[in-house]
This record gives sequence, structure tokens and C-alpha cells, in this order.
Amino acid sequence: NKEYDYLIVGSGLFGSVFAHEANKRGKKCLVIDKREHAGGNVYCEKTEGINVHKYGPHVFHTNDENIWNYVNSFVSFNHFTCNTLANYKGDLYNLPFNMNTFYQLWESITPDEAKEKIRSQIAELDLKTPANLEEQAISLVGTDVYEKLIKGYTEKQWGRPATELPAFIIKRLPVRFNFDNNYFNDKYQGIPVGGYNKLIEGLLGTIETRLNIDYFENREELNALADQIVFTGKIDQFYNYQFGQLEYRSLRFEQETLNTDNYQGNAIINYTEREVPYTRVIEHKHFEFGTQPNTVITREYPQEWTQEKEPYYPINNTQNNQVFQKYQDLAVKETGVIFGGRLAEYRYYDMHQIIGSALAKVAAHFND
Ligand code: FDA
Repeated sequence: NKEYDYLIVGSGLFGSVFAHEANKRGKKCLVIDKREHAGGNVYCEKTEGINVHKYGPHVFHTNDENIWNYVNSFVSFNHFTCNTLANYKGDLYNLPFNMNTFYQLWESITPDEAKEKIRSQIAELDLKTPANLEEQAISLVGTDVYEKLIKGYTEKQWGRPATELPAFIIKRLPVRFNFDNNYFNDKYQGIPVGGYNKLIEGLLGTIETRLNIDYFENREELNALADQIVFTGKIDQFYNYQFGQLEYRSLRFEQETLNTDNYQGNAIINYTEREVPYTRVIEHKHFEFGTQPNTVITREYPQEWTQEKEPYYPINNTQNNQVFQKYQDLAVKETGVIFGGRLAEYRYYDMHQIIGSALAKVAAHFND
């Protein structure tokens, strides 16, 4: 018998939930992470007394009462609701598209007026089958919303003109004909009081966690330590890229401390014009209603992904999905290794989905 029952590669939400649940069942776990901190992409760093979301803004939301109760058993959540704005050439618009946005765009007072405006813009174009993302978006919301609030942002995000992006990226666009600015429709929403690190600390508790350790640099040694492995890193790397690399879109964050207590009056403001190189500005203190004398902001720039850069968004096109399927076929045959999390499953997951998927894998694994 080896020293540990489980070696958990990656201390993000998936690894932390799995470790917590295995530990609760009397199993001995060792969690490792190649970063210098635990928590994966939900990790926050304190600067000026403010929890800075180092890997992009994170707002917890779910409709699942069990998952909401689960996270609240480790940390309580505040009443933050995500209300995002768009800045287009110096004018502000509420998001997601709702009556406030339509009033700002066209001074539409009633839902009927706004609907008529959108309908006439769509009709004018007479698009039968949208051939690309641009045509798809216009066929859903008309030209004004598209030109001012979607086009530039999407082109920055993907690094390509909207006419060269496939239509399927946008299946539907949420349009509301009421004055509700709440970004999410979910029943539960908030930010952990004291930040996401509290959630991770609650999950990991006293479980042994070693940082600054890359699994692939110590593979044999680490494998020898535990009976089973929970792997939350990149699945293509696990298999030495034998079928090729899975592609991602990356991000670059530029952080700045400002000598003012309130820079933009909101946690997230999107910049939707193509000419501004970043897609959004995050003012972190607003997630926790902070009253610190200074403020910390982050400008988020999308960028091409290369092997040295953080993989943020999987590019789930046909080519990549086919490659992933080959790795997946090997993974299901693997004994003693459980794959989970966004990198091993090559899929975008929200936090509540990751927790749900970790709890489901735990239940299946332990037969409970
Ligand atoms: P995660 O990436 O967090 O953890 C994996 C860990 O494994 C990392 O710590 C990594 O260092 C480690 N690791 C990888 N390879 C390793 C190796 N070889 N050796 C050792 N360690 C290794 N969700 C939501 O609900 N609301 C939101 O507002 C947002 N916002 C958001 C913004 C942005 C920009 C992104 C990219 C994502 C979001 N999300 C989100 C999604 C959220 O970040 C996501 O669901 C979870 O962080 C995923 O947790 P995982 O454990 O799967 O991966």
C-alpha cells in the first residue's frame, strides 16, 4: 500500500472538492499544484485590502439549491448581483440587452417600441441563412445592438473579424423587454464573504497541499506516492500530446492601483469598440462593496494562446473536439486515474458546474 490513497493534481475547484470529499470518507489525500497558490482560477490576491481576482472576474451563480448549500457550508456569500455595463465610444449602455439598453440606444420607452425597432432592423437586412457570426447576431438583435455592443467585443475576444467567425458561436442572444440589469437568471448569486480563498481554504482544510510542483516534472515519483490519481490538468499533456495539441484562447491582465476610492462605480465595464484593445475593466472592490481608500483595477486583453501562456477558453471547433475525443477514448480506459475539471474535460465550465461535476464523480467513484 502506498503512502496516500489519492494524489490530486490541481487545487482548483474540482481538485479541492474531490479532496474534501475523499478526506471526509477517511481517505488520505495529497494535493499538488504547479502554481504558488491553491485555488486555481478562482484564486484572489489581497492588494490594498481588496481581493483581486487574479484570473478574471468570478461571480458565483447557480439554480441548484444543493450546490448553493454546499458552498455556503464553507463560507457565507454576500448579495452581490452582476450588473455589467458596456462603454462604446464614451457612451454607457446597460447589459444584458434590456429596456435600459434600448432606452439608451433609441429612447424607446415601451417594450413594443423596442421590439418594433429591432424587428425593422432585422427585416431590412433580409438575411435567410446566417453565414457567419455577424449575420447571425444581426438576425437576432438588429444592426444597432450588433454594431455598438457585440461586434468589436467579439472580434477582440476571438482575434478575428466577425464575418470570419462561424455563426454557431452565437446560438441565442439574451434580450429582455423589462428593466432588469441582472446578468444572471439564476436563483442564487453572490461572492464569498472574504473572497474565494475562503472557499478553497474551507474545502482543503488540513489536507496536505504542496505548491510549486508540476506533475509532469515529477511524474514517476508522484505516481509512486498514491494508489489513485485525480488529474485536473491538460488532458493532451497527460498523453504527451500524442494526437496533437488542444487549442485555447488566452488572456493577459494588466493590474493597476489607483489613488481614488472609486474609479468606475461598477465591478465590470465592457469596452465594446474594436479600437480599445482590452475587452473589459474590472474594479475588484465592488464585488465586496469595499470601502478601502484606494482601488485596484484590471484591464483584460484577449490574446493568442501558446504553450507558455495560460489556457483560458477551449476552442471547441470540430478539429479540436475530434482530437479531444481521441484523448478521451484513452482516458476512459485508464485505470487508477480520474479525470475532471475544465482542462481535463476540455470544456468551459462555470464554478457551480465544476462543483456539480466533482460531486457527481465523487458519488460514482465511492458508490454512494
Ligand atoms: P482550474 O484551472 O481552476 O484548476 C486547475 C489547477 O490545476 C490549477 O491550479 C493548475 O495550476 C493546476 N495544474 C494544472 N496542470 C498541473 C500540473 N501539471 N501539475 C500541477 N498542477 C497543475 N465561473 C463562474 O461560475 N462565474 C464566473 O464569473 C466566472 N468567470 C470566469 C472568468 C474567466 C476569465 C474564466 C477563464 C473563467 C471563469 N469562470 C467563471 C470559470 C471558473 O474559472 C472555472 O469553472 C473553475 O475555475 C474551474 O476549476 P478547475 O478546478 O476545473 O480548473
